[in-house]
Amino acid sequence: MHGKNITLSPVLEQLLLHYAGLSSPVNAQSRAVKLLSAQVKTISDEYLAGDSSFKGDLFRSRALRRAYSCYYLPVNLVKLLPVLDELFTHPDIKGFTEPHVSILDLGCGPGTFLLGVLEYLAAHQNLLSPDIQKIDLWGIDQVDENVTTAKKIISRYLAVQKFPSSSTWQLHFRAGSIMTAGFPHPLIPQGTQYDLIIAGNVFTEIDQESFSVLAPILEKLLSPHGTLILIDPGTRASSRRLIQLRDMLLEHTALTLYAPCLERGLCPSLDNPRDWCHQKLSWSPPAIVHVIDRHIGFTKEKGIPYSYFTFRNDGKALIHPTCDFPREKVWRVVSYQIRHKGEERLFVCNGKERKLLRRLTKNISDSNQDFSDALRGDSVAMDGMVRKEAFLDITRDSIFRILKR
Ligand SMILES: C[S@@+](CC[C@H](N)C(=O)[O-])C[C@H]1O[C@@H](n2cnc3c(N)ncnc32)[C@H](O)[C@@H]1O
Repeated sequence: MHGKNITLSPVLEQLLLHYAGLSSPVNAQSRAVKLLSAQVKTISDEYLAGDSSFKGDLFRSRALRRAYSCYYLPVNLVKLLPVLDELFTHPDIKGFTEPHVSILDLGCGPGTFLLGVLEYLAAHQNLLSPDIQKIDLWGIDQVDENVTTAKKIISRYLAVQKFPSSSTWQLHFRAGSIMTAGFPHPLIPQGTQYDLIIAGNVFTEIDQESFSVLAPILEKLLSPHGTLILIDPGTRASSRRLIQLRDMLLEHTALTLYAPCLERGLCPSLDNPRDWCHQKLSWSPPAIVHVIDRHIGFTKEKGIPYSYFTFRNDGKALIHPTCDFPREKVWRVVSYQIRHKGEERLFVCNGKERKLLRRLTKNISDSNQDFSDALRGDSVAMDGMVRKEAFLDITRDSIFRILKR
């Protein structure tokens, strides 16, 4: 599931069409599709007008919930797939192995990220140990109607998607705010812990002042080998907010960063108000997203920006199984290529430091030839750069190698 190979399963694509009252193949000129397109535009306008803070009221409209579910649900869900890929490439993270597995989607909307996990597991069934007896799927959202929708879509998904017959799924959906002073009570029974918590596109809507209260609660809710994934839309404002939460989690809890940052430290992208840390995902959108894009002039097929952080409760950090470089020589590409006559530049970051690299065309060699192909988000190993005033220079002898895309 990489790059343009990232797609929704036919099961999910059909289910979302059905939920929107459409059938396959999608008739781009139908009244229903034109109406859905207009509703997607309304949702987008509301997001923009609200300065990235989505108005919960929109979800109370059945028509807008439908439009969200057939457009924004897939667009958001796919961001989780490379993040899970990166988690499960770790040689010691074997998937879900305990008899009872619990997964929580905070601010679940119509069930976006629980569906993301299910899509991933449907394609990687080896991650579900045969010893699993029960998988609890939890969704919490402040809007009752979202909770009802999520339950409906996920129940249907589980009824039609193929999973090992040994696993029993149990659904728990709760309507309520994760901001209440008493959270996680009364929404979650005392002592409940989760193997995976995903909070996607919800911290953009939560008061920054409550991050320091929520951070230790998130830690308590995580099982000893649990993973916490935070995902946000990848705009400058939302990404910088998410970094505040990242820093709060590092400061107020014992959770450790698994990815994308390779080192623990205050995020260097905050030093420059024009910077923000984000990824860009390329994928093949489902037909309905294509068609809606044509109607309203959006371009989701050109890539989806997002920001994310993966935390672990057991101290495991991202490693690249085939990499023989020490950790301090592994970096992450955090910009696109900046090309000028006779040279290329890009930024790399390790979570603590950000560096500008430059390679003159005359210095291209076998050991640094990957430089031209490096894309935002790639993990790279580098060695032998020469320090100049404002950047590190890549010489003919320097090593620059892409480890993972
Ligand atoms: C932009 S939507 C994201 C929905 C879904 N996670 C996705 O990515 O498609 C934000 C969701 O967070 C929910 N939300 C916002 N503040 C919340 C809070 N304090 N407690 C629980 N849910 C909240 C909203 O109701 C909405 O469903």
